[in-house]
Amino acid sequence: DIPSLPLNNGNQIPQLGLGVFQVDDATDTKNAVKWALKAGYRHIDTAAYYGNEQWVGEAIRESGLKREDVFVTSKLWNSDRGYDQTKAAFQATLDKLGFDYLDMYLIHWPAPGYAESWRAMEDLYKAGKIKNIGVSNFQQSQLETLMKTATVKPVVDQIETHPYFQQNDLHAYLETQGILHEAWSPLGGGKNNALTDPIITELAAAHDVSAAQIILRWHVQREEIVIPKSVHEARIAQNRDIFAFGLDEDEMHQIADLDAGKRVGPNPDDEAWLKQSQSYSGRK
Ligand code: A2P
Repeated sequence: DIPSLPLNNGNQIPQLGLGVFQVDDATDTKNAVKWALKAGYRHIDTAAYYGNEQWVGEAIRESGLKREDVFVTSKLWNSDRGYDQTKAAFQATLDKLGFDYLDMYLIHWPAPGYAESWRAMEDLYKAGKIKNIGVSNFQQSQLETLMKTATVKPVVDQIETHPYFQQNDLHAYLETQGILHEAWSPLGGGKNNALTDPIITELAAAHDVSAAQIILRWHVQREEIVIPKSVHEARIAQNRDIFAFGLDEDEMHQIADLDAGKRVGPNPDDEAWLKQSQSYSGRK
């Protein structure tokens, strides 16, 4: 079984989920979600910006599972800021998914105006429309700013994390706050990633598993939530099988040594990028 981790509000989250970033076709999205659910995943991570919420919702309905058996996350895009606009964007997300509540809703990036958006999310949380609220791509300083006006603490911070970009300082800070670290692009996003790193491939051979499984296992042992993306059935199934073996302390250290501070995505401190990202809508 896929283990769950406790959130700071007493709820639970399955530690492994399927990510669907850059899956922008109905067939690919629906297949990926169905294969994941068939393989035992009970957690899907989407976003308004991905443009595939509708197909995620359809695939879950067509799977025959009950709504409450699947933990679904979506995210508020950067152009949606302010109290009313946040509520409207959330409703649009619910409508696309075809749900009457969401398991988790995250502020996608710390683009200006997030305090007012958070206030709307707190009200939706208190009304039971969102079971858990959190953030994504927030640095420590941005979390500190948010928490000055927040009355509900974020349950997670979903941040880029992989062997070449380990986020150790932010990880330690999140731990002190009781905010879970959720890793996006856990494998490093495809190109020039750690999947072909000699240390990783050696560990894979030693454990008779794949490089991807070694990397995902390393995340899991760091108490992170992981949401690897794949549109291939065999890989989706493979990425699930990371709970029947373990890395010892020396092996964890070997991977820790690979940190290169190398981001693949935007830098959340890049204010020009954040501003620019508010000029396009995530809603397709
Ligand atoms: P694909 O969707 O073609 O399977 P991340 O979630 O870290 O961004 O990584 C996603 C990338 O890694 C995608 O390019 C995905 O490709 C690929 N990927 C996912 N799972 C595996 C796996 N088990 N082995 C190799 N590549 C994988």
